[in-house]
Amino acid sequence: MAKAKKTENLMETLVTLCKRRGIIFQSSEIYSGINGFYDYGPLGVEMRRNIKDAWWRDFVHRRDDIVGLDSTIIHHPTTWKASGHIDNFTDPLVDCKTSKQRFRADQLFFAPVVIDGATVGYVSAMESESTEQELQTAAETFKRKKGIQGTLEAVALRDMTEATEEEIPLIPSPATGEPGSLTPPRSFNMMFQTHVGALRDDASVAYLRPETAQGIFINYKNILDTGRVKLPFGIAQIGKAFRNEINPRNFIFRSREFEHMEIEYFISPDENWQKVHRDWIDRSRDWLVSIGIEAALLSEYEHPKEKLSHYSKGTIDIMFKFPFGVQELQGIAARGDYDLTQHQETSGKSMEYFDEATKSRFIPHVIEPSVSVDRIMLAVLTAAYREEEVEGDKRVYLKLSPRIAPVKVAVLPLVKNKPELVKAARTLYSNLQRRYAVFYDESGAVGRRYRRQDEIGTPWCATVDFESIESGTFTVRDRDTMEQVRMTEAEFMAMLDEKID
Ligand code: GAP
Repeated sequence: MAKAKKTENLMETLVTLCKRRGIIFQSSEIYSGINGFYDYGPLGVEMRRNIKDAWWRDFVHRRDDIVGLDSTIIHHPTTWKASGHIDNFTDPLVDCKTSKQRFRADQLFFAPVVIDGATVGYVSAMESESTEQELQTAAETFKRKKGIQGTLEAVALRDMTEATEEEIPLIPSPATGEPGSLTPPRSFNMMFQTHVGALRDDASVAYLRPETAQGIFINYKNILDTGRVKLPFGIAQIGKAFRNEINPRNFIFRSREFEHMEIEYFISPDENWQKVHRDWIDRSRDWLVSIGIEAALLSEYEHPKEKLSHYSKGTIDIMFKFPFGVQELQGIAARGDYDLTQHQETSGKSMEYFDEATKSRFIPHVIEPSVSVDRIMLAVLTAAYREEEVEGDKRVYLKLSPRIAPVKVAVLPLVKNKPELVKAARTLYSNLQRRYAVFYDESGAVGRRYRRQDEIGTPWCATVDFESIESGTFTVRDRDTMEQVRMTEAEFMAMLDEKID
């Protein structure tokens, strides 16, 4: 009988599992790593491909109104002037002059320590699940250490973008615990710069794209003229994006190089954009559930009007319960006609759409579902991780959707010293290999082999035993229930076809 166990420190557990089983590695580890970059190992790369393939099949192949694109990573630099990224794609940055550390001002919180109505000092902490509690504890410690008598008020926290000029020198740096070393917040552009061509001067500056979206906007006219598309229609793109994040953190949640999956869905300006927006939020949620993320772990967050990105008329984030708290998994923005209008004005090329039915010309509006493969990977792993006790032993398994699992079937001969068993297992393996990512394992006790597959989320283990030689059947063990049933190869293939879609 299996008994579910609570996992302590899930994030650490996932990072360790990913390293140990060849899913994700810190990039450049042999040179002490490079912060904010991750490499995907043999199993990780399969999972990523499965996520991208599932997304592409569901949103491009299985729809009549969305086409694909693969644009370059480096665009003409004017693209980023037109899109507003050169001026607006910034994060507020605070330096600590003593430790040389840098913090995102909107993630660095502080509070005055107020005793009997008077401010006697300040405390600070980086944003976390329990920032307020941390600051309250820090305020109590401050009071005790300074030996100040009186009633301490509950802390009222603000972030560094809200600190006044007078307050900044009084706020302690989270790096040193001492005040006086933090600088006022300044804007830091997150685009990575490079140079195109042999000369490294201002004229040769170019940028690695921070989103795939602009590649779509600058190709919108090409697709309109050649793609026989009619409104409403979408253009989908999957590709690498780069952001020089001040504080890359939480493993692959916020990295400096990630892979975007974005759709720009163009609609008429007369269309009810709120309805299309809602529809995309619902479809995106349904899709996340279809790849194995439980609906109960998802929620929504509507960006307040005053905090919207420079291009947005309205943004709703699909939030996920990550091990470090509820955070954005996917953004769905209503970008209006901002981008196409900007590119029309900057390039002088018309971005208008001619509507045959009404004989009118206009610039379409756009709804944009945007997510990264990397953040989905982390959500999928978080949702899938399970620990349970089975007959006194700990069993770890990843309850991955068969669509996403890196290995679909492990083929195991019961023993490796019986040539007829090995031969039958090898035949089954090579038949399966033609259609799916499968794995052959003959080393060690069969129970151990099952556990190794459980840990990487292999949905089925097919074990060829003595009965297989006579009956032509083998046992199929289900990862989640651990139950085994006998099947013929034809029955098994039919089941796989249905479940791995
Ligand atoms: N084109 C719109 C856009 O890029 P965004 O809110 O900056 O909007 C959209 O990003 C999505 O891209 C996020 O919801 C997240 O899934 C992913 N994303 C953004 N920055 C990321 C990072 N540094 N690392 C991993 N994924 C990131």
